[in-house]
Amino acid sequence: MDKLFMVSFLGMLMAVYGVSGNMVYANIGVLNELESFDIEEDNEVNVFDIPSWTSERGCKVLVNVDSFGAVGDGISDDTQAFQKAWDIACSTTQSVFLVPQGRQYLVNATKFQGPCKDNLVIQIDGTIVAPDEPNDWDPKFSRAWLDFSKLNGVLFQGHGVIDGSGSKWWASSCKKNKTNPCRGAPTALTIDKSSAVKVKGLKIRNGQQMNFVISQCDSVRVNAVQVSAPGDSPNTDGIHITSSTNVVLQDCKIGTGDDCISIVNGTSNIKMKRIFCGPGHGISIGSLGKDNSTAIVTKVVVDTAILRETANGLRIKTWQGGSGYVRGVRFQNVRMENVSNPIIIDQFYCDSPKSCQNLTSAVEINQVMYRNISGTTKSAKAMKFACSDTVPCSNIVLTNVNLEKKDGTVETYCNSAQGFGYGIVHPSAECLNSHDKDCMVITDPASKVELADPSREEIVHTEL
Ligand SMILES: *[C@@H]1O[C@H](CO)[C@@H](O)[C@H](O)[C@H]1NC(C)=O
Ligand SMILES: *[C@@H]1O[C@H](CO)[C@@H](O)[C@H](O)[C@H]1NC(C)=O
Ligand SMILES: *[C@@H]1O[C@H](CO)[C@@H](O)[C@H](O)[C@H]1NC(C)=O
Ligand SMILES: *[C@@H]1O[C@H](CO)[C@@H](O)[C@H](O)[C@H]1NC(C)=O
Ligand SMILES: *[C@@H]1O[C@H](CO)[C@@H](O)[C@H](O)[C@H]1NC(C)=O
Ligand SMILES: *[C@@H]1O[C@H](CO)[C@@H](O)[C@H](O)[C@H]1NC(C)=O
Ligand SMILES: *[C@@H]1O[C@H](CO)[C@@H](O)[C@H](O)[C@H]1NC(C)=O
Repeated sequence: MDKLFMVSFLGMLMAVYGVSGNMVYANIGVLNELESFDIEEDNEVNVFDIPSWTSERGCKVLVNVDSFGAVGDGISDDTQAFQKAWDIACSTTQSVFLVPQGRQYLVNATKFQGPCKDNLVIQIDGTIVAPDEPNDWDPKFSRAWLDFSKLNGVLFQGHGVIDGSGSKWWASSCKKNKTNPCRGAPTALTIDKSSAVKVKGLKIRNGQQMNFVISQCDSVRVNAVQVSAPGDSPNTDGIHITSSTNVVLQDCKIGTGDDCISIVNGTSNIKMKRIFCGPGHGISIGSLGKDNSTAIVTKVVVDTAILRETANGLRIKTWQGGSGYVRGVRFQNVRMENVSNPIIIDQFYCDSPKSCQNLTSAVEINQVMYRNISGTTKSAKAMKFACSDTVPCSNIVLTNVNLEKKDGTVETYCNSAQGFGYGIVHPSAECLNSHDKDCMVITDPASKVELADPSREEIVHTEL
């Protein structure tokens, strides 16, 4: 067989693929089955083609950032190498964009844009670090560091780390020091305008602001991802989901200085299963409705979670003056460990330097179920349903809830909230059913979420 494949891509010069010693890893079977080609040492190869049989045989084409000049010493600027490697990987069918293990790659804010050829794998085994100085940050990329967009059918995986080097950003936040101007900082990892995306096993840490944002996506599976940032780092949400549908987060461990998971406007069919959260502000729907905006969130399920030492547990937060709705939410099988506000709906959310006034409009909250929630609370108000006076919360259902405070009693706070509890509910949720008991049986075919008679034991069935 010919030892070199020399044809050009789109007539352009390309760098050598995956050179390691005198071997070229031009393709790999299923990532671990490496096949290699000998390359004659005295040959300078600038142009390297992928033989067509590789894709016919289902082989993967390895595009190693090291082959494009990445140094991986944590000091050299590897931005250009990543960009070049991306351009090749994206334009090659069945390619693997590889960030190899054992090294640290310093990379500036970069847009990794699709659409790409089919079956792209982004294999991150090494560490990618961001430059740590906010003053040197290119303002063109003010809100995103590693920004992947317009991808379809890609897999992100590996044992590697994405490290936003956020400490100087946190120190310059107005949340840390009121003399600092309030400005946004970049998100470490963004996946935007994409579909059929899988993310498996990555570690994301020290985001400049949010750690991982999923925006304008459909069909995303996130598995065994770990997110970490210090408990006092400002606004470092773990995983933030916005304007996206059909997202599943599973087996994720998240500890940050803000929400472990935040789910905001334009989301539907979001499922979180086996989540560990802490430290942080808990699992949040919201905030929603800021600056009189409209928000719609439907069909959200949290199933099996542990929240440890978090400021909130399961929270829905909306600003006064918003509109739209949150409808069809199920929280179940959740264990709270020393959580300040284990169950909370807060329609008076106000995260601005000046106080917020009460307005007549609000994001409506309807059909929220809490099932099998137990553990310990730090505050006496273990359950708080603080709903808008003009737009009450409705159909809040609780069953098998048991929250206790180590030393002292617990209580439920209700303002303008309607619903009921059955089975064990501690503290009692009596304040929910002060009126309108006729509303206990409701079917909403539009959202495929049913609230059935409690005796039928199939409360809030959300199809996911
Ligand atoms: C990366 O950012 C630094 C400033 O922090 C800049 O000097 C350098 O040119 C950038 N690298 C690339 C490849 O744009
Ligand atoms: C806040 O920032 C100002 C100006 O940079 C500085 O003088 C002050 O020491 C900072 N305060 C704290 C608590 O860090
Ligand atoms: C809310 O989400 C919808 C759907 O994604 C979008 O059209 C709308 O612009 C969003 N509203 C705001 C205030 O972001
Ligand atoms: C929101 O609406 C209220 C009442 O109409 C108005 O007073 C306020 O200025 C509006 N706020 C914003 C940010 O538009
Ligand atoms: C209730 O939730 C806990 C986790 O918090 C779980 O271990 C247990 O199996 C659940 N019980 C039922 C009946 O599902
Ligand atoms: C709960 O947190 C408080 C401090 O916030 C701490 O003193 C206490 O030991 C914690 N309790 C448990 C059971 O961990
Ligand atoms: C807004 O309304 C709530 C509920 O009635 C009340 O507790 C709160 O004090 C009000 N806030 C302001 C700023 O008026």
